[in-house]
Amino acid sequence: MNIIREIEQLRCQVAAAKTAGKAVGLVPTMGALHAGHISLIDRARKECGFVVVSDFVNPTQFNNPEDLRTYPRTEAADCEKMSQSGVDVAFIPSVEEVYPEPDTRVFDLGPVAEVMEGAMRPGHFNGVAQIVSKLFAIVEPDKAYFGEKDFQQIAVIRRMVELEGFNLEIVDCPILREADGLAMSSRNVRLDAAHRAVAPHIHKTLVESLDYAKTHTVAETERFVTENINAVEGLETEYFMIVDALTMQPVDPEAKPDASMVGCVTVYCGDVRLIDNIKY
Ligand code: PAF
Repeated sequence: MNIIREIEQLRCQVAAAKTAGKAVGLVPTMGALHAGHISLIDRARKECGFVVVSDFVNPTQFNNPEDLRTYPRTEAADCEKMSQSGVDVAFIPSVEEVYPEPDTRVFDLGPVAEVMEGAMRPGHFNGVAQIVSKLFAIVEPDKAYFGEKDFQQIAVIRRMVELEGFNLEIVDCPILREADGLAMSSRNVRLDAAHRAVAPHIHKTLVESLDYAKTHTVAETERFVTENINAVEGLETEYFMIVDALTMQPVDPEAKPDASMVGCVTVYCGDVRLIDNIKY
């Protein structure tokens, strides 16, 4: 595996792979790699002859400086995992390499980016669009892989791809979970033992809501999830919304949840902000 820190070098390596007739897969990450990331890499490995993984904590998508400061950084362990997973290139640039000057681009992401994470974290999705569009422009991958834990992020990236006219396939990959159901996340390492013990209630409640939703409305199901999560000491729901799975827009509160909808939740588990979702 090649560890590359400079954009020009990355361009050269990718160009050589393309000349050799290889399909290029890109897995964008912010490092602190866990089994969820490895599942994206495995999928890319199966489908593409040349796999690039970016490992970059992108400052422009953090609306909270404390979150940026405490975001786990584990470069050596990441390199070990990427190398063992058969990654061809690990792209680990500095902030100065990616942003030699401030990125002032504002993307017209529209309604998909205005609700939920977009409403709670102003500027977050614009920052995601900035870094992902830069990576797409440099690597020009055939396919790019994203995890469904960040369900809304995938919808926003699809919108950005449409706006910018990138010619590639966005591959969404299922959430990987710990044995007790907690969605894998780089932030899980920040949970202390007591909070780690209660965190699986998030997924447990979402699963219970599938049954509940069969005989209740969207509004009732939203209340069911919020109340059940908040009943657990150490968990505080920021929002739970059942939305259209394509547009991310709120649905008729009196409708019954159905397969066109997804329930997205954000929960403070102590001071760690966790997100998860479930398809109805
Ligand atoms: O999902 C993430 O880890 C990040 O938002 C991404 C897509 C790598 C962009 O920094």
